[in-house]
Amino acid sequence: MSDHTLGAYNIAELRAMAERRVPKGLFEFVDRGSEDEIALKNNRAAFERIKLKPRALVDVSKRSQAITLFGRDQRMPIAIAPTGTAGLMWYEGELALARAAAAAGIPFTLATGSMTAMEKIAGEAGGRLWFQLYMWPDRSMSHQLVERARLAGFEALVVTVDGAVSGNREYNLRSGFTIPFSFTRRNVTDVLMHPRWLAGVLARYMLTTGMPRYQNYPTELRNRITAAPMGKSMMRNDSLTWDDLRVLRKIWPHTLMVKGIIHPRDALHAADCGADAVIVSNHGGRNLDSSPAPIDALPHVVDAAGKRLAVLVDSGFRRGSDVIKALALGAQAVLLGRATLYGIAAGGEAGAARAIGIFREEIDRVLALVGCRAIAELQRDCLWMPGDGIDNGLTGLQTGEYSGRRWGRSHT
Ligand SMILES: Cc1cc2nc3c(=O)[nH]c(=O)nc-3n(C[C@H](O)[C@H](O)[C@H](O)COP(=O)(O)O)c2cc1C
Repeated sequence: MSDHTLGAYNIAELRAMAERRVPKGLFEFVDRGSEDEIALKNNRAAFERIKLKPRALVDVSKRSQAITLFGRDQRMPIAIAPTGTAGLMWYEGELALARAAAAAGIPFTLATGSMTAMEKIAGEAGGRLWFQLYMWPDRSMSHQLVERARLAGFEALVVTVDGAVSGNREYNLRSGFTIPFSFTRRNVTDVLMHPRWLAGVLARYMLTTGMPRYQNYPTELRNRITAAPMGKSMMRNDSLTWDDLRVLRKIWPHTLMVKGIIHPRDALHAADCGADAVIVSNHGGRNLDSSPAPIDALPHVVDAAGKRLAVLVDSGFRRGSDVIKALALGAQAVLLGRATLYGIAAGGEAGAARAIGIFREEIDRVLALVGCRAIAELQRDCLWMPGDGIDNGLTGLQTGEYSGRRWGRSHT
Protein backbone atom coordinates (compact mmCIF):
# COMPACT_ATOMS: atom_id res chain seq x y z
CA MET A 1 0.00 0.00 0.00
CA SER A 2 1.38 3.43 -0.84
CA ASP A 3 2.16 5.82 1.99
CA HIS A 4 -0.70 8.32 2.13
CA THR A 5 1.51 10.78 4.07
CA LEU A 6 3.88 11.10 1.07
CA GLY A 7 6.52 11.56 3.76
CA ALA A 8 5.09 14.95 4.78
CA TYR A 9 3.83 15.54 8.30
CA ASN A 10 3.04 19.23 8.01
CA ILE A 11 2.45 21.88 5.36
CA ALA A 12 6.03 23.14 5.62
CA GLU A 13 7.25 19.72 4.47
CA LEU A 14 4.83 19.74 1.51
CA ARG A 15 6.15 23.21 0.66
CA ALA A 16 9.74 21.89 0.65
CA MET A 17 8.68 19.05 -1.69
CA ALA A 18 6.95 21.55 -3.99
CA GLU A 19 10.03 23.71 -4.07
CA ARG A 20 12.14 20.79 -5.27
CA ARG A 21 9.68 19.79 -7.97
CA VAL A 22 8.68 22.99 -9.79
CA PRO A 23 10.93 25.55 -11.52
CA LYS A 24 12.27 28.20 -9.14
CA GLY A 25 10.53 31.08 -10.90
CA LEU A 26 7.18 29.29 -10.75
CA PHE A 27 7.69 28.38 -7.11
CA GLU A 28 8.44 32.01 -6.30
CA PHE A 29 5.32 33.06 -8.23
CA VAL A 30 3.28 30.92 -5.87
CA ASP A 31 5.21 31.25 -2.65
CA ARG A 32 6.24 34.85 -2.36
CA GLY A 33 4.45 38.11 -1.64
CA SER A 34 4.59 41.64 -2.99
CA GLU A 35 7.34 44.25 -2.54
CA ASP A 36 9.13 43.77 0.81
CA GLU A 37 6.83 40.91 1.85
CA ILE A 38 5.75 42.71 5.02
CA ALA A 39 2.16 41.48 4.67
CA LEU A 40 3.31 37.94 3.81
CA LYS A 41 5.43 37.67 6.97
CA ASN A 42 2.90 39.48 9.15
CA ASN A 43 0.15 37.06 8.07
CA ARG A 44 2.10 34.33 9.88
CA ALA A 45 3.36 36.50 12.74
CA ALA A 46 -0.23 37.52 13.56
CA PHE A 47 -1.15 33.86 14.19
CA GLU A 48 1.85 33.46 16.46
CA ARG A 49 0.70 36.42 18.58
CA ILE A 50 -2.64 34.77 19.29
CA LYS A 51 -2.53 31.96 21.85
CA LEU A 52 -5.01 29.19 22.63
CA LYS A 53 -6.09 28.38 26.18
CA PRO A 54 -5.87 24.67 26.90
CA ARG A 55 -8.75 23.27 28.97
CA ALA A 56 -8.57 20.28 31.26
CA LEU A 57 -10.76 17.31 32.07
CA VAL A 58 -13.50 17.94 29.54
CA ASP A 59 -14.96 14.85 27.88
CA VAL A 60 -13.92 15.45 24.27
CA SER A 61 -14.04 11.81 23.26
CA LYS A 62 -16.70 12.52 20.61
CA ARG A 63 -15.48 15.29 18.37
CA SER A 64 -16.71 16.67 15.08
CA GLN A 65 -15.33 19.41 12.86
CA ALA A 66 -18.37 19.45 10.59
CA ILE A 67 -20.08 22.78 9.93
CA THR A 68 -23.12 24.06 8.10
CA LEU A 69 -22.26 26.76 5.59
CA PHE A 70 -24.88 28.52 3.48
CA GLY A 71 -27.41 25.94 4.64
CA ARG A 72 -25.31 22.95 3.56
CA ASP A 73 -23.36 20.52 5.69
CA GLN A 74 -19.66 20.09 5.10
CA ARG A 75 -17.21 17.79 6.83
CA MET A 76 -14.53 20.33 7.67
CA PRO A 77 -14.53 24.10 8.30
CA ILE A 78 -12.28 24.80 5.29
CA ALA A 79 -12.62 25.44 1.55
CA ILE A 80 -10.07 25.67 -1.25
CA ALA A 81 -9.27 29.26 -2.29
CA PRO A 82 -9.07 30.22 -5.98
CA THR A 83 -5.51 30.12 -7.33
CA GLY A 84 -4.98 30.74 -11.04
CA THR A 85 -1.76 28.72 -11.15
CA ALA A 86 -3.03 25.38 -9.85
CA GLY A 87 -2.93 24.05 -13.43
CA LEU A 88 0.80 24.83 -13.62
CA MET A 89 1.67 23.04 -10.41
CA TRP A 90 0.44 19.73 -11.85
CA TYR A 91 -1.06 18.63 -15.15
CA GLU A 92 -4.75 19.63 -14.86
CA GLY A 93 -3.98 20.65 -11.28
CA GLU A 94 -7.38 22.30 -10.82
CA LEU A 95 -9.07 18.99 -11.47
CA ALA A 96 -6.75 17.24 -8.99
CA LEU A 97 -7.52 19.88 -6.38
CA ALA A 98 -11.26 19.78 -7.01
CA ARG A 99 -11.30 15.97 -6.73
CA ALA A 100 -9.36 16.04 -3.46
CA ALA A 101 -11.79 18.66 -2.11
CA ALA A 102 -14.81 16.59 -3.20
CA ALA A 103 -13.38 13.49 -1.50
CA ALA A 104 -12.85 15.47 1.71
CA GLY A 105 -16.36 16.96 1.60
CA ILE A 106 -15.24 20.59 1.29
CA PRO A 107 -15.89 23.25 -1.41
CA PHE A 108 -13.40 23.99 -4.17
CA THR A 109 -13.15 27.43 -5.79
CA LEU A 110 -12.15 27.59 -9.45
CA ALA A 111 -10.30 30.78 -10.43
CA THR A 112 -11.20 32.86 -13.47
CA GLY A 113 -7.57 32.55 -14.61
CA SER A 114 -7.33 28.77 -14.38
CA MET A 115 -6.15 26.45 -17.15
CA THR A 116 -9.04 24.00 -16.93
CA ALA A 117 -12.49 24.90 -18.24
CA MET A 118 -15.23 25.22 -15.64
CA GLU A 119 -17.45 22.78 -17.56
CA LYS A 120 -14.74 20.11 -17.33
CA ILE A 121 -14.38 20.66 -13.57
CA ALA A 122 -18.16 20.51 -13.09
CA GLY A 123 -18.41 17.38 -15.25
CA GLU A 124 -15.48 15.42 -13.85
CA ALA A 125 -14.69 16.52 -10.28
CA GLY A 126 -18.01 16.29 -8.47
CA GLY A 127 -18.35 17.89 -5.05
CA ARG A 128 -19.24 21.42 -4.13
CA LEU A 129 -17.98 24.02 -6.58
CA TRP A 130 -17.58 27.78 -6.25
CA PHE A 131 -16.48 30.03 -9.12
CA GLN A 132 -14.17 32.99 -8.55
CA LEU A 133 -14.75 36.02 -10.76
CA TYR A 134 -12.39 38.82 -11.63
CA MET A 135 -14.66 41.49 -13.00
CA TRP A 136 -13.45 43.04 -16.24
CA PRO A 137 -14.15 46.58 -17.41
CA ASP A 138 -16.15 45.04 -20.27
CA ARG A 139 -19.08 44.18 -18.03
CA SER A 140 -20.85 42.13 -20.65
CA MET A 141 -17.89 39.72 -20.85
CA SER A 142 -17.88 39.28 -17.08
CA HIS A 143 -21.61 38.67 -17.12
CA GLN A 144 -21.19 36.01 -19.84
CA LEU A 145 -18.75 34.24 -17.54
CA VAL A 146 -21.21 34.41 -14.66
CA GLU A 147 -23.89 32.89 -16.86
CA ARG A 148 -21.51 30.11 -17.90
CA ALA A 149 -20.82 29.33 -14.23
CA ARG A 150 -24.55 29.21 -13.53
CA LEU A 151 -25.19 26.86 -16.42
CA ALA A 152 -22.28 24.63 -15.37
CA GLY A 153 -23.90 24.26 -11.94
CA PHE A 154 -21.53 26.21 -9.69
CA GLU A 155 -23.27 26.84 -6.38
CA ALA A 156 -21.52 30.07 -5.39
CA LEU A 157 -19.84 33.07 -6.98
CA VAL A 158 -16.75 34.55 -5.30
CA VAL A 159 -16.07 38.05 -6.59
CA THR A 160 -12.51 39.18 -5.89
CA VAL A 161 -12.27 42.90 -5.22
CA ASP A 162 -8.76 43.48 -3.86
CA GLY A 163 -7.02 43.97 -7.20
CA ALA A 164 -7.92 47.41 -8.56
CA VAL A 165 -4.39 47.22 -9.91
CA SER A 166 -2.06 44.24 -9.66
CA GLY A 167 0.41 43.76 -6.81
CA ASN A 168 4.06 44.69 -7.30
CA ARG A 169 6.06 41.45 -7.45
CA GLU A 170 9.52 42.31 -8.68
CA TYR A 171 10.94 38.78 -8.58
CA ASN A 172 8.41 37.72 -11.24
CA LEU A 173 9.67 40.44 -13.57
CA ARG A 174 13.21 39.24 -12.99
CA SER A 175 12.42 35.56 -13.57
CA GLY A 176 10.02 36.07 -16.49
CA PHE A 177 7.30 34.10 -14.69
CA THR A 178 4.80 36.83 -15.38
CA ILE A 179 1.41 36.97 -17.04
CA PRO A 180 1.89 36.73 -19.96
CA PHE A 181 4.82 34.35 -19.54
CA SER A 182 7.93 35.46 -21.38
CA PHE A 183 10.81 33.18 -22.34
CA THR A 184 14.24 34.26 -21.12
CA ARG A 185 17.50 32.35 -20.98
CA ARG A 186 17.13 32.33 -17.20
CA ASN A 187 13.70 30.76 -17.01
CA VAL A 188 14.33 28.28 -19.84
CA THR A 189 17.38 27.04 -17.88
CA ASP A 190 15.24 26.95 -14.75
CA VAL A 191 12.65 24.75 -16.51
CA LEU A 192 15.31 22.43 -17.95
CA MET A 193 16.72 21.92 -14.47
CA HIS A 194 13.33 20.58 -13.32
CA PRO A 195 12.82 17.61 -15.68
CA ARG A 196 10.03 16.03 -13.63
CA TRP A 197 7.95 19.19 -13.97
CA LEU A 198 8.93 19.61 -17.63
CA ALA A 199 7.89 16.04 -18.49
CA GLY A 200 4.95 15.71 -16.12
CA VAL A 201 3.31 19.09 -16.60
CA LEU A 202 4.49 21.19 -19.54
CA ALA A 203 5.18 18.33 -21.96
CA ARG A 204 1.83 16.70 -21.16
CA TYR A 205 0.00 19.91 -22.03
CA MET A 206 2.04 20.29 -25.23
CA LEU A 207 1.22 16.72 -26.26
CA THR A 208 -2.50 17.08 -25.52
CA THR A 209 -4.03 20.55 -25.60
CA GLY A 210 -0.92 22.60 -26.41
CA MET A 211 0.46 25.51 -24.40
CA PRO A 212 -1.83 26.04 -21.36
CA ARG A 213 -4.62 28.53 -22.00
CA TYR A 214 -7.04 30.51 -19.92
CA GLN A 215 -9.90 28.13 -20.62
CA ASN A 216 -12.52 30.21 -18.82
CA TYR A 217 -12.00 33.38 -20.81
CA PRO A 218 -14.43 34.13 -23.63
CA THR A 219 -13.41 32.22 -26.78
CA GLU A 220 -11.96 35.24 -28.56
CA LEU A 221 -9.62 35.91 -25.59
CA ARG A 222 -8.63 32.34 -24.82
CA ASN A 223 -4.94 32.95 -25.37
CA ARG A 224 -2.00 30.84 -24.42
CA ILE A 225 -0.28 31.84 -21.17
CA THR A 226 2.58 33.12 -23.30
CA ALA A 227 0.39 35.71 -25.02
CA ALA A 228 -1.04 38.87 -23.50
CA PRO A 229 -4.40 37.65 -22.28
CA MET A 230 -6.25 40.64 -23.60
CA GLY A 231 -5.84 44.22 -24.63
CA LYS A 232 -4.67 46.67 -21.99
CA SER A 233 -8.15 48.09 -21.57
CA MET A 234 -9.46 44.62 -20.64
CA MET A 235 -6.77 44.24 -17.98
CA ARG A 236 -7.72 47.47 -16.20
CA ASN A 237 -10.32 47.01 -13.55
CA ASP A 238 -9.65 50.14 -11.54
CA SER A 239 -12.99 51.69 -12.47
CA LEU A 240 -15.19 49.07 -10.80
CA THR A 241 -17.49 50.13 -7.98
CA TRP A 242 -20.08 48.75 -5.59
CA ASP A 243 -22.66 49.33 -8.36
CA ASP A 244 -20.99 46.51 -10.29
CA LEU A 245 -21.54 44.24 -7.31
CA ARG A 246 -25.22 45.25 -7.19
CA VAL A 247 -25.58 44.20 -10.82
CA LEU A 248 -23.94 40.86 -10.09
CA ARG A 249 -26.34 40.39 -7.21
CA LYS A 250 -29.21 40.83 -9.69
CA ILE A 251 -27.91 38.33 -12.23
CA TRP A 252 -26.46 35.66 -9.90
CA PRO A 253 -29.22 33.69 -8.18
CA HIS A 254 -27.08 31.68 -5.75
CA THR A 255 -24.61 32.41 -2.93
CA LEU A 256 -22.57 35.54 -3.58
CA MET A 257 -19.29 36.15 -1.73
CA VAL A 258 -17.01 39.16 -1.86
CA LYS A 259 -13.34 38.27 -1.48
CA GLY A 260 -10.59 40.64 -0.42
CA ILE A 261 -12.23 42.63 2.37
CA ILE A 262 -10.19 44.06 5.24
CA HIS A 263 -12.04 47.26 6.20
CA PRO A 264 -15.21 46.69 8.26
CA ARG A 265 -16.93 49.46 6.28
CA ASP A 266 -16.37 47.53 3.06
CA ALA A 267 -18.01 44.51 4.68
CA LEU A 268 -21.03 46.70 5.39
CA HIS A 269 -21.05 47.90 1.76
CA ALA A 270 -21.03 44.27 0.66
CA ALA A 271 -23.99 43.56 2.93
CA ASP A 272 -25.82 46.61 1.54
CA CYS A 273 -25.30 45.23 -1.97
CA GLY A 274 -26.92 41.95 -0.95
CA ALA A 275 -23.82 39.75 -0.67
CA ASP A 276 -24.21 36.58 1.39
CA ALA A 277 -20.64 36.57 2.66
CA VAL A 278 -17.34 38.39 2.73
CA ILE A 279 -13.95 36.72 2.67
CA VAL A 280 -11.52 38.67 4.83
CA SER A 281 -8.30 38.40 2.84
CA ASN A 282 -5.17 40.28 1.81
CA HIS A 283 -4.63 37.87 -1.09
CA GLY A 284 -2.02 35.98 0.90
CA GLY A 285 0.21 39.07 1.06
CA ARG A 286 0.37 39.30 -2.73
CA ASN A 287 -1.22 42.69 -3.33
CA LEU A 288 -0.99 45.61 -0.86
CA ASP A 289 2.21 45.01 1.07
CA SER A 290 1.26 47.12 4.09
CA SER A 291 -2.10 45.49 4.51
CA PRO A 292 -2.94 44.22 8.00
CA ALA A 293 -3.18 40.48 8.56
CA PRO A 294 -6.70 39.19 7.86
CA ILE A 295 -6.70 37.31 11.19
CA ASP A 296 -6.24 40.71 12.92
CA ALA A 297 -8.94 42.38 10.80
CA LEU A 298 -11.35 39.48 11.23
CA PRO A 299 -12.86 40.35 14.67
CA HIS A 300 -13.51 43.92 13.51
CA VAL A 301 -15.32 42.70 10.40
CA VAL A 302 -17.29 40.16 12.45
CA ASP A 303 -18.30 42.85 14.96
CA ALA A 304 -19.37 45.26 12.23
CA ALA A 305 -21.12 42.96 9.78
CA GLY A 306 -21.26 39.46 11.22
CA LYS A 307 -24.97 39.67 11.91
CA ARG A 308 -25.73 40.62 8.31
CA LEU A 309 -23.57 38.17 6.37
CA ALA A 310 -21.27 35.21 6.79
CA VAL A 311 -17.61 36.03 7.37
CA LEU A 312 -14.94 33.75 5.93
CA VAL A 313 -11.21 34.38 6.01
CA ASP A 314 -7.95 33.40 4.29
CA SER A 315 -4.25 34.30 4.10
CA GLY A 316 -1.42 32.57 5.87
CA PHE A 317 -3.25 29.47 7.16
CA ARG A 318 -0.71 26.64 7.52
CA ARG A 319 -1.81 24.83 10.69
CA GLY A 320 -5.03 23.49 12.15
CA SER A 321 -4.45 25.79 15.12
CA ASP A 322 -4.65 28.79 12.74
CA VAL A 323 -8.08 27.58 11.60
CA ILE A 324 -9.24 27.12 15.22
CA LYS A 325 -8.15 30.69 16.03
CA ALA A 326 -10.13 32.11 13.09
CA LEU A 327 -13.25 30.15 13.98
CA ALA A 328 -12.98 31.26 17.62
CA LEU A 329 -12.85 34.84 16.34
CA GLY A 330 -16.15 34.38 14.53
CA ALA A 331 -15.20 33.18 11.04
CA GLN A 332 -17.60 30.59 9.63
CA ALA A 333 -14.93 28.93 7.51
CA VAL A 334 -11.35 29.33 6.30
CA LEU A 335 -9.99 29.19 2.74
CA LEU A 336 -6.63 27.60 1.96
CA GLY A 337 -4.50 29.00 -0.86
CA ARG A 338 -0.84 28.01 -0.91
CA ALA A 339 -1.21 25.11 1.54
CA THR A 340 -3.09 22.98 -0.97
CA LEU A 341 -1.09 24.38 -3.92
CA TYR A 342 2.05 22.99 -2.28
CA GLY A 343 0.15 19.74 -1.95
CA ILE A 344 -0.67 19.39 -5.65
CA ALA A 345 2.82 20.51 -6.66
CA ALA A 346 4.24 17.79 -4.41
CA GLY A 347 1.96 14.96 -5.51
CA GLY A 348 -1.12 15.89 -7.56
CA GLU A 349 -4.45 14.76 -6.13
CA ALA A 350 -2.73 12.63 -3.46
CA GLY A 351 -0.67 15.65 -2.41
CA ALA A 352 -3.76 17.87 -2.18
CA ALA A 353 -5.50 15.15 -0.17
CA ARG A 354 -2.47 15.01 2.12
CA ALA A 355 -2.58 18.79 2.69
CA ILE A 356 -6.28 18.59 3.57
CA GLY A 357 -5.60 15.52 5.75
CA ILE A 358 -2.92 17.39 7.69
CA PHE A 359 -5.44 20.14 8.46
CA ARG A 360 -8.05 17.54 9.44
CA GLU A 361 -5.69 15.89 11.95
CA GLU A 362 -4.44 19.18 13.35
CA ILE A 363 -7.90 20.74 13.70
CA ASP A 364 -9.11 17.62 15.49
CA ARG A 365 -6.17 17.61 17.90
CA VAL A 366 -6.42 21.31 18.75
CA LEU A 367 -10.19 21.10 19.17
CA ALA A 368 -9.64 18.45 21.85
CA LEU A 369 -6.88 20.37 23.59
CA VAL A 370 -9.00 23.52 23.92
CA GLY A 371 -11.79 21.40 25.39
CA CYS A 372 -14.30 21.57 22.52
CA ARG A 373 -16.29 18.80 20.89
CA ALA A 374 -17.71 20.84 18.04
CA ILE A 375 -16.82 23.92 16.00
CA ALA A 376 -19.85 25.73 17.43
CA GLU A 377 -18.28 25.52 20.91
CA LEU A 378 -15.30 27.63 19.84
CA GLN A 379 -15.51 31.19 21.09
CA ARG A 380 -13.28 34.15 21.82
CA ASP A 381 -12.73 32.88 25.36
CA CYS A 382 -10.71 30.03 23.85
CA LEU A 383 -8.11 32.60 22.84
CA TRP A 384 -5.46 34.56 24.61
CA MET A 385 -5.16 37.70 22.53
CA PRO A 386 -2.16 40.05 22.45
CA GLY A 387 -2.68 42.51 25.30
CA ASP A 388 -4.88 40.18 27.34
CA GLY A 389 -3.82 40.42 30.97
CA ILE A 390 -4.05 37.43 33.27
CA ASP A 391 -7.54 38.45 34.38
CA ASN A 392 -8.74 38.96 30.81
CA GLY A 393 -7.83 35.36 30.30
CA LEU A 394 -10.55 34.52 32.78
CA THR A 395 -13.37 36.38 31.03
CA GLY A 396 -16.67 34.59 31.16
CA LEU A 397 -16.47 33.67 34.84
CA GLN A 398 -19.44 34.62 37.01
CA THR A 399 -18.79 36.55 40.24
CA GLY A 400 -18.16 34.04 42.99
CA GLU A 401 -17.18 31.28 40.57
CA TYR A 402 -13.60 32.48 40.77
CA SER A 403 -13.53 32.68 44.58
CA GLY A 404 -10.25 34.45 44.95
CA ARG A 405 -7.93 31.71 43.71
CA ARG A 406 -5.20 33.00 41.42
CA TRP A 407 -3.51 31.10 38.64
CA GLY A 408 -0.63 29.14 40.13
CA ARG A 409 -1.78 29.60 43.72
CA SER A 410 -4.61 27.10 44.00
CA HIS A 411 -2.33 24.22 44.94
CA THR A 412 0.04 25.96 47.31
C1 LIG B 1 -0.35 31.43 -6.86
C2 LIG B 1 -1.59 32.11 -6.40
C3 LIG B 1 -2.57 32.46 -7.31
C4 LIG B 1 -3.74 33.09 -6.89
N1 LIG B 1 -4.72 33.39 -7.80
C5 LIG B 1 -5.87 33.96 -7.37
C6 LIG B 1 -6.92 34.20 -8.28
O1 LIG B 1 -6.82 33.90 -9.46
N2 LIG B 1 -8.05 34.78 -7.79
C7 LIG B 1 -8.19 35.11 -6.47
O2 LIG B 1 -9.23 35.62 -6.07
N3 LIG B 1 -7.21 34.88 -5.59
C8 LIG B 1 -6.06 34.31 -6.00
N4 LIG B 1 -5.07 34.04 -5.11
C9 LIG B 1 -5.27 34.37 -3.67
C10 LIG B 1 -5.90 33.19 -2.95
O3 LIG B 1 -7.22 32.97 -3.36
C11 LIG B 1 -5.90 33.42 -1.43
O4 LIG B 1 -6.52 34.63 -1.13
C12 LIG B 1 -4.51 33.38 -0.84
O5 LIG B 1 -3.70 32.43 -1.48
C13 LIG B 1 -4.61 33.07 0.65
O6 LIG B 1 -3.37 33.07 1.25
P1 LIG B 1 -2.49 31.74 1.51
O7 LIG B 1 -1.92 31.38 0.18
O8 LIG B 1 -1.47 32.21 2.46
O9 LIG B 1 -3.42 30.68 2.03
C14 LIG B 1 -3.91 33.41 -5.50
C15 LIG B 1 -2.93 33.03 -4.59
C16 LIG B 1 -1.79 32.38 -5.02
C17 LIG B 1 -0.75 31.99 -3.98
